[in-house]
Amino acid sequence: MRDNTLLYEGKAKKLYTTDDPKILRVVYLDQATALNGIRKDIVQGKAVLNNQITSLIFEHFKQNGVKNHFIEKISKHEQLVEALKMIPLEVVVRNVSAGSFAKRLAIPEGQLLEFPVLEFYYKDDNLDDPIINDDHVKILKIATEKEIDTIKEEAYKINQVLIELFKKVSIRLIDFKIEFGKNNDRTILLADEITPDTCRLWDEKTNDHLDKDVYRRNLGELIPVYQEVLDRLKQVPH
Ligand code: C5P
Repeated sequence: MRDNTLLYEGKAKKLYTTDDPKILRVVYLDQATALNGIRKDIVQGKAVLNNQITSLIFEHFKQNGVKNHFIEKISKHEQLVEALKMIPLEVVVRNVSAGSFAKRLAIPEGQLLEFPVLEFYYKDDNLDDPIINDDHVKILKIATEKEIDTIKEEAYKINQVLIELFKKVSIRLIDFKIEFGKNNDRTILLADEITPDTCRLWDEKTNDHLDKDVYRRNLGELIPVYQEVLDRLKQVPH
């Protein structure tokens, strides 16, 4: 754990090397951003909550056959994860119309979709993460056809596991974003995080937003909402 080179600084976390080249240390940050980083604020307490939420979900995934990079949570802010070569894609799965999808296609926010809609966004800051299709993924050599199939299969499976998990605590999973990477064996694993920063979560009864839209849309305080998500998830026997 002593090697300590900063490999990457993202919007909500930093990634450091460790003595073991196969293991990285993730440090969650008390930071919230919107509009691809244009709006940025310190949100005291968010790191500790997101580290707990994502650790709990990734543990749950391991018990439910979803391979992922998570190794262990080592402190309030930190976790150890498997070092992967990241695939520069944001994979979004949507169950209900919301956000950019509602806007782009003029499908009213809150409308239940007939089937889960999967989208790819190319992670490239200079291009502003454009939405792309399978052919674009192949022509950009981001992934092969077989890898695209694996990514889609995993994404749909993750959607099912997450829907069931959140249903147990009276939360509707509206949509979410995930990222994948490859290990030395070329196995594709879920990486990054799953938190209210990366999902839309609505209370089943009130439709209240229990996610980062509270910050994006100035709907109130973020911390009590993230705490509520954590408290509910902790009630589920894992
Ligand atoms: O904004 P949009 O409707 O495309 O977001 C879809 C889902 O992906 C939301 O749950 C949002 O939180 C997540 N997302 C993300 N990181 C991004 C863009 C979207 O986690 N850069």
